[in-house]
Amino acid sequence: MKQDSIRFIVILGSVAIFGIIVFQIFTLRKAWSDNETAVNQTIQSALQNVSEKINIYNQNTFQNENTVIQQTPNYYVVNVNSRFDANVLEYYLTNEFSLQSINLDFEYAIYDYSTKKMVYGNYITADGTHRKIAQSTDFPPFDEFTYYFGINFPTKSSFIMDKMTVMAVLTAVLLVVVAFFGYGMFIILRQKRLSEMQKDFINNMTHEFKTPISTINIAADVLMNPAIIDNPKRLSSYASIIKQENTRLNNQVEKVLQIARIEKRGFNLNKESLDIHRIITEAAHNIKVNTKSDDSSIHLDLKSQNFLVFADKTHLTNMVYNLLDNAIKYRKDELTINIATIDQGSSMIELSIEDNGIGISKEYQKKVFNKFYRVPTGNIHNVKGFGLGLYYVRNICRAHRWKISLESEEGKWTKFTIILPAIPVQPTKIV
Ligand SMILES: Nc1ncnc2c1ncn2[C@@H]1O[C@H](COP(=O)(O)OP(=O)(O)O)[C@@H](O)[C@H]1O
Ligand SMILES: [Mg+2]
Repeated sequence: MKQDSIRFIVILGSVAIFGIIVFQIFTLRKAWSDNETAVNQTIQSALQNVSEKINIYNQNTFQNENTVIQQTPNYYVVNVNSRFDANVLEYYLTNEFSLQSINLDFEYAIYDYSTKKMVYGNYITADGTHRKIAQSTDFPPFDEFTYYFGINFPTKSSFIMDKMTVMAVLTAVLLVVVAFFGYGMFIILRQKRLSEMQKDFINNMTHEFKTPISTINIAADVLMNPAIIDNPKRLSSYASIIKQENTRLNNQVEKVLQIARIEKRGFNLNKESLDIHRIITEAAHNIKVNTKSDDSSIHLDLKSQNFLVFADKTHLTNMVYNLLDNAIKYRKDELTINIATIDQGSSMIELSIEDNGIGISKEYQKKVFNKFYRVPTGNIHNVKGFGLGLYYVRNICRAHRWKISLESEEGKWTKFTIILPAIPVQPTKIV
């Protein structure tokens, strides 16, 4: 897929998701307030009826306008205009609420004019059974009425919520859809990053292969010239060029194959007991011979008493090579590499490889272990690589259950530390 269309999809998707969420929030709020208004209206009219019916019962004809006053979302005061009894009130309340299908818990208090206090009446649940315990003692009096009662609906919010069940289910479904969509976009973005990295890798690889191939080609052309037979010195020099370039090619292929091998399902380690000091010494020696640079030095400080490890020889060796190879590749001027081992407790070895190279800034330190990852250097790519070395190293450490960590200061130094278990050395018996 084209990069532009991916960006387009991601932006459009984000806008759509955002729009859907905003719309849903808006709809939910609207539904809530509509429901609330409807419930309020029903309650108002029911309470109005109760007041009228009590008056009829009391044979009082006087009725005024503002009978029901909602003081808080859950609390109402209702004017009655004449003395009334709690039993009568309760009868009309339950009666009227069931007529209007108001299935709500309620509790009421009646204003006692002689003591000027609200007297708690009863708590009645939605199914009509009485409950004695007062839920709320907060029935504020209302100075403008003389004979009135206060009524509280403690479960009103959840009642409205219940009315919105369908809406809630739809919202949940929508959230699931949005989550899936988000996850899909995440996958697309990750895939995009991966394909960019793969593209870089292929560019890199073609580039790396092209140089030796064309060098070999030129050398072969020279060798095909019959006159070369008379010049054995030139012949041997061209043959050695071919040999050298071939080795280089082989090394590159080997690097890619290393990865292919460890990524194969069920790849297993050929573990054996190894002297880690010996492996380090050999690798350091070979690297020195290969690089042949005079201004670089490798210091070995192998102090660990437990130097036997149970590991795969090829992979362990490759791992050390990879780390040394990086130290050499990402050097500044004069290179010093310190390789050290030290005992950690009675059964662990700490192996560290430290260089005084260009370092890795904090933000890239976690990423360098990722597949194909190379620290961006702008457009200058003077050091070639596939970004596979540390990925390989990390995988080998994981397979062996070793712990690897990286410390570095940009422009100054880099230090890789690996902690691995040692095979305990049996103390030799003195007879
Ligand atoms: N010793 C080091 N000093 C500085 N930078 C390093 C060092 N080792 C690795 N890096 C950075 O980490 C990146 C990943 O390393 P690696 O996986 O070996 O890939 P490659 O060497 O092929 O680029 C390198 O591109 C480099 O930027
Ligand atoms: Mg490398």
